Amino acid sequence: MAQIGVWGLGPMGQNLALNLLEHRYQVVVANRTVENTKKFVKKNANPLLSGAANMREFISLLNKPRVVLLMVKAGAAVDATLEQLLSQLEPGDVIIDGGNSFFEDTNSRAEMLHSRGIHFLGAGISGGELGARLGPSIMVGGAEEGWELAGKILEDISAKNRAGQSCCAFLGPGGAGHYTKMIHNGIEYALMQLLAESYQILLAMNYPLSKIAEFFASWNRGEVSSYLLELAVDVLKKQDPDTGKPFLPQILDQVGSKGTGAWTVNQSMAQEIAAPAISEAVYFRQLSLKGADRARAGALFPEKINPPQMLEPQILKASLLCGMLLAFAQGFALLGDAKDRYSWPLKLARIAEIWQAGCIIRAGLLKKLDDLEVVSNLIFTRYGSQVLEKSQTQLRSTVLWALEHGLPIPALASCLTYFDTYRTETLPANLLAALRDHFGAHTFRRIDKHGDFHVRWRDAHDL
Ligand SMILES: NC(=O)c1ccc[n+]([C@@H]2O[C@H](COP(=O)([O-])OP(=O)(O)OC[C@H]3O[C@@H](n4cnc5c(N)ncnc54)[C@H](OP(=O)(O)O)[C@@H]3O)[C@@H](O)[C@H]2O)c1
Repeated sequence: MAQIGVWGLGPMGQNLALNLLEHRYQVVVANRTVENTKKFVKKNANPLLSGAANMREFISLLNKPRVVLLMVKAGAAVDATLEQLLSQLEPGDVIIDGGNSFFEDTNSRAEMLHSRGIHFLGAGISGGELGARLGPSIMVGGAEEGWELAGKILEDISAKNRAGQSCCAFLGPGGAGHYTKMIHNGIEYALMQLLAESYQILLAMNYPLSKIAEFFASWNRGEVSSYLLELAVDVLKKQDPDTGKPFLPQILDQVGSKGTGAWTVNQSMAQEIAAPAISEAVYFRQLSLKGADRARAGALFPEKINPPQMLEPQILKASLLCGMLLAFAQGFALLGDAKDRYSWPLKLARIAEIWQAGCIIRAGLLKKLDDLEVVSNLIFTRYGSQVLEKSQTQLRSTVLWALEHGLPIPALASCLTYFDTYRTETLPANLLAALRDHFGAHTFRRIDKHGDFHVRWRDAHDL
């Protein structure tokens, strides 16, 4: 009999099943297309592993209370599989949805399953296939009883950070885990965009790809280190076996998305918490897909700039660090607001810990945010304020340099603007408030008196 069942044998389900086996768990696996189950069990023959041909057999092979890890495509597939599971499970059993489900769907499913006596966990799992195999970062939300029954399994298979802490945590009820995973993905969009812009700036100075790879590799040994920077070095070094040329220029400059970045942007709008680096990264991908239009606009408005003078790569490196900090600041600001808004006991410093290993956004700076819990924005942490104080001039130089040379740098520029907006004590928002009041009597507040005010901005005879 198995201690856990994995339903869904896509790349993630397969690798998580192998990870569980390596941790000596008895595992039963199954999949909608039974052929995939047979192939997987044959290829990975192991006395701890069994395969089931259908839901009835799958459930019959599990110890009670049963623990089922669902690893199917997010959306309708989750509901379809839950329906089948429900016909076989009993009160007290645990279902973990380990896919990238939208957190509000997880909220509804948790409520529905609670009424049926099932302990439902929504677990965001980051790290891709390799993470799933070797130790991912796991962000768990849902029923505490479910966490008590299955939490140890998830902790065992998760990554461990340098301090030996498990990169898996229970973050709160309902969709708290999937919400945190959504923010993780939003930050991932912004970090990737910052890297793409840094690459573009170095390219504009005519550095060959091999030299850019060298810069990135050397930066990755310092405080600006991140897993994505490490991956970028691999990409920059890769040669195309078909052409014998560097691979990257052979790739079409258009990129799609699976939607989790847009979810974060929608959520930032709903919460009224600014996340411009994330939204710019999502918009950039959308614009990238307008290939024909971009080619037309390029011909219509050719560059009219002088050949670029050089920007010191060390300045770019410092700018990348500032950008990364500000992108994380925006993600943590959303998490901090969600904590109050949804009454979730989210611990921001713990989230920074579980993002230190296993996940795609792991980065050196996450180790330095131990005072995150007590500040209203990451820019006020000891580390954040020190970096921004030291390096804001460099970020400004980079943005100026890129703008002067006509390079699109939405993430770097919006990070700088976010920072400048935050640090400007008196914003011109008073004019916005006055205009709103002028055309729509929306009222405004004064600096010298309490209350909401409205005035007639034009004399009656001028109307
Ligand atoms: N890939 C990654 O790097 C990654 C990273 C983190 C999280 N995730 C999330 O993890 C989950 C699994 O991802 P994945 O990449 O392993 O595979 P996937 O392609 O997202 O999903 C494959 C699994 O979903 C099943 N499935 C698809 N449509 C179905 C339907 N209508 N009804 C029932 N089952 C259906 C497939 O069954 P069949 O074999 O029968 O088609 C297969 O078991 C997803 O939510 C994904 O977003 C993925």
